[in-house]
Amino acid sequence: MTQIVNEDKKNELYAFMDEVSQERRSNSYLIAVLHKVQQLYGYLPQEVMDQVAEKMEIPTSHIWGVATFYHYFNLKPIGKNIVSVCMGTACYVKGADKMLLTLKKELGIEIGETTEDKLFTLQEARCLGACGIAPVMMINGKIYGELDSKKTVDIINQYRKAAQTDIE
Ligand code: FES
Repeated sequence: MTQIVNEDKKNELYAFMDEVSQERRSNSYLIAVLHKVQQLYGYLPQEVMDQVAEKMEIPTSHIWGVATFYHYFNLKPIGKNIVSVCMGTACYVKGADKMLLTLKKELGIEIGETTEDKLFTLQEARCLGACGIAPVMMINGKIYGELDSKKTVDIINQYRKAAQTDIE
């Protein structure tokens, strides 16, 4: 009878299984840790990532690899208001690109950046599920539709005003 199980193959299989299970265990644990960091700090600060790497005894480069793979992790500080501009097809054909330009100019930042006063972070989104009122943007989960440049700036100003009122 042919011996199917030999030591070399068995070792190779076990090594593969160890690697996979180790990988899964550490990545799912790491993701949970990164969520906690984001919950505490709003984003993933370099200094905290270094601490996580030391504590988990894994290279920082591995942590950043995982963090950048999942788009829901913020790698930079975020503003009080998250402005997401929909660049999905329906919004794009209705002028989302112009709306985005208006926002960039008005806020003085690019996609992924935060204003100096930490009031706004600008993001890009793919279909916010409101194609019927395109072009659309979302601020802190609230949808604004049928936008043009003037409406967009007016909405931003409402948030600025609200922030002023908060300070006073
Ligand atoms: S494409 Fe913008 S909401 Fe659907």
